[in-house]
Amino acid sequence: MHDPAALASTAVPLLEARNLHAHYGASHVLHGINFAIRAGETVALMGRNGMGKSTLIRTMLGLVRASTGQVLVKGQDMTHTAPHLIARSGIAYVPEGRGIFPNLTVRENLVMAARAGTRGQRDWTLDRVLTSFPRLAERLAHGGGQLSGGEQQMLTIGRALMTNPDLLILDEATEGLAPLISREIWRIVASIRASGIATVLIDKNFAALSTIADRVHILVKGSTVFEADTDQLRAQPHIRETFLGI
Ligand SMILES: Nc1ncnc2c1ncn2[C@@H]1O[C@H](COP(=O)(O)OP(=O)(O)O)[C@@H](O)[C@H]1O
Ligand SMILES: [Mg+2]
Repeated sequence: MHDPAALASTAVPLLEARNLHAHYGASHVLHGINFAIRAGETVALMGRNGMGKSTLIRTMLGLVRASTGQVLVKGQDMTHTAPHLIARSGIAYVPEGRGIFPNLTVRENLVMAARAGTRGQRDWTLDRVLTSFPRLAERLAHGGGQLSGGEQQMLTIGRALMTNPDLLILDEATEGLAPLISREIWRIVASIRASGIATVLIDKNFAALSTIADRVHILVKGSTVFEADTDQLRAQPHIRETFLGI
């Protein structure tokens, strides 16, 4: 017997862009992107600075207006839908830079984000987040603003997990962090992946991405230039050199 719900969740992308275009004023930044991520997948969105990675995410999440094309969330057309409604459909987004409440404690930051997922799941609780990020457990009563940059990033990811998302999007989560802290973040990303949450990862650390991502999607000047399983990118160093300069 097929389980129709399980079948649908594997077949229909959680988030999809179809022929997506976006502009900032007169500047045409996304040129017809097709992008999809399905339940449980880990996709690396790659490209040099300024190629449109963050804009693609922001446009799919309703934070930048799509000029043409479509955004679908679990098969439903959500183009031009308000960002908070898109977020409510099980998508957690950790933008570039950090989004914590500096005047609230670590515990308050986490607890106020808590909610059940779209299927009622409450897999990620305060206890589980604190087990994953022991540094946060040690600083529960500290104000968010007293944390180091790396700890703030952990708190942002912890807050995202407290929403029990189906899809987690991390935009440059390890940017500017010391190697030791970055390693801790990669370790938690691996455990998030193992827990079945789909993730879109944007990062400059190619080695880390290539061990964790199932697929890669490379943008150059707002167009897709390469899309394949990660193995294929590893086997083709010239693609890396040409499009990523590494
Ligand atoms: N708020 C903005 N207003 C105007 N131009 C922007 C804005 N944000 C980004 N851009 C421009 O859009 C292009 C794509 O940027 P972005 O999506 O941030 O790239 P990436 O995330 O790949 O580094 C760049 O040329 C950038 O300068
Ligand atoms: Mg960016």
